[in-house]
Amino acid sequence: MVRETNVSPGDFIYPLFVVEGERVRTPIGSMPGVFNVSVDEAVREAGEVVALGIPSVILFGIPKSKDAQGSDAYAEDGIVQRALRAIKRAHPNLVLMADVCLCEYTDHGHCGLLDSHGEVLNDPTLPLLAKMALTCAQAGADVIAPSDMMDGRVAAIRSKLDVGGFAQTPILSYAAKYASAFYGPFREAAQSTPQSGDRKGYQMDPGNIREALREVELDLDEGADMVMVKPALAYLDVIRAVKERTQVHVAAYNVSGEYSMIKAAAQNGWIDHDRAMMECLTSIKRAGADLILTYFAKDAARLLA
Ligand code: PBG
Repeated sequence: MVRETNVSPGDFIYPLFVVEGERVRTPIGSMPGVFNVSVDEAVREAGEVVALGIPSVILFGIPKSKDAQGSDAYAEDGIVQRALRAIKRAHPNLVLMADVCLCEYTDHGHCGLLDSHGEVLNDPTLPLLAKMALTCAQAGADVIAPSDMMDGRVAAIRSKLDVGGFAQTPILSYAAKYASAFYGPFREAAQSTPQSGDRKGYQMDPGNIREALREVELDLDEGADMVMVKPALAYLDVIRAVKERTQVHVAAYNVSGEYSMIKAAAQNGWIDHDRAMMECLTSIKRAGADLILTYFAKDAARLLA
């Protein structure tokens, strides 16, 4: 009765990793309970999510072949576009978010195009991200969520969506995204580890919080409708600071490494899985997150049922 912060399935966004093929359900070693799924299996998982009262999924596509330009990311019949169409048809009321970034689609694993020295080309990447956003919206995405961290991408995506007939489609920008060690398991799931260098040129330094606020401000100026802080647990103060300075919905990404740590410790009998999970999710909500992207969504919703 006197609890100040309650977590509910309605807070969650569940990530899905979609691969080519049929009836594919490949376990991701570092993320127990999470799978690479083909489109048909993704539709089935989406049904599970709906039944558990979770309002939304975010889709990541892993194409069969990758190239330097990340072509599958913005192809009309790309893996993520096909998954969006199929899930929309089967579950029209589920909110479909499309993660917009090139790293799962490029053979070099970076989030943007590279020049001949391996430097990321910010501005030439923007039209490709915008094209990905538009093809995803056309395929049924209800929310566009750019995670690439290129400067100016929110504005580029906003104008492309507006001109393309999707003025009503909101943008949830990964505004404050840190260069974090906690993305390790995701990179196994998405096969997106950079082949050279790292992402420190475009993702943020863990020591910076004022920069996070500047990134949020810039994205809101460019037209973001909601903003995200990522990761969540090592950045609860950032979530709180963003929440206090904005009127928009604040999302927090409880990332792969944060999930894997609890799973691994629980498997060893070192920690109580359900209690640790709920404590972490509650702390993210208490810090100020309105929405939580989490691989725990199904586990937690089952527990809360
Ligand atoms: C990049 C992207 C990443 C995650 C979501 N979008 C990884 C990265 O920057 O390498 C990480 C999510 C997680 O770790 O759960 N497109």
